[in-house]
Amino acid sequence: MRIAHFSDPHLLDVSSATLRDFASAKVLAGSLNVVFNRARKHRTECFAALVDDLNAQDLDHVVCTGDLVNLGLRPEFQRAAELLGRIRLGPAGVTLVPGNHDYYTAAAMTEQRFERALGAYATGDGQTRPDYPFLRLRDDLAVAGLCSAYASPLGLADGRLGPAQLRAAEALLTRVEVRERFRLVLVHHPPVVHRGWFARNLRDREALQAMLARAGADLVLHGHDHHDERAAIPGPGGSIPVIGVGSASYDDWRLDRAARYHVFEIAGRKLVRVTTRVWDRDADRFRELV
Ligand SMILES: [Fe+2]
Ligand SMILES: [Fe+2]
Repeated sequence: MRIAHFSDPHLLDVSSATLRDFASAKVLAGSLNVVFNRARKHRTECFAALVDDLNAQDLDHVVCTGDLVNLGLRPEFQRAAELLGRIRLGPAGVTLVPGNHDYYTAAAMTEQRFERALGAYATGDGQTRPDYPFLRLRDDLAVAGLCSAYASPLGLADGRLGPAQLRAAEALLTRVEVRERFRLVLVHHPPVVHRGWFARNLRDREALQAMLARAGADLVLHGHDHHDERAAIPGPGGSIPVIGVGSASYDDWRLDRAARYHVFEIAGRKLVRVTTRVWDRDADRFRELV
């Protein structure tokens, strides 16, 4: 089984945003950040090239751990839906969970802009709309999607899962038909602290780790930090690998920052190999990082 993981494309589009969209102080502050910082670094063209590269690989499933957009604006979600629509596997073969930028404002969250535009990629088996946690069974793979995002106040980029979601996730992960598959858990915020600033971390990460130590999982994937990161947390039968991936749209000559995605090769219940495909600025295409 071959599974690709990308995250944090932060697609930009303020073209048809209305004045009302900028009424939120957070959107205003975020817009300045976009204008002066992100817009130069996160390029839609890089992400479009990533999608082309994904389509050239022999993959069974693709997963994304959120921050599809920047300011939670409707045009950004339309652009995200258009680009994700180009992935050949289609919504049944592509699984998404939201990030904090997908719920950037209270309006984005209450209007369910992520779920309306991208819900087909975040709907569990037997469900008609996204509800977290969700579960998708695909051949030998079981994907559990968690939502750690919420409309955090200005200055915060933290996440939380909450006891109800953790209980429901534990119930999903311990089902018989799930335990006999390769159990992949998706969450936007890292379940361990890689970068020490409290305002951007997962608040109930210890509760998540405790739940996974009881229930077990074969791999946990996350985004949010815009860096490749690796950790391991205790599981019932040994440690569980926790792997984060850098941004899917970052246009940078440095190979440790440039837009990238990971490909996981899985045999039965074992993770056999992880490779990174990275944006090569000079060649204007993605290639394997060696
Ligand atoms: Fe992000
Ligand atoms: Fe994030």
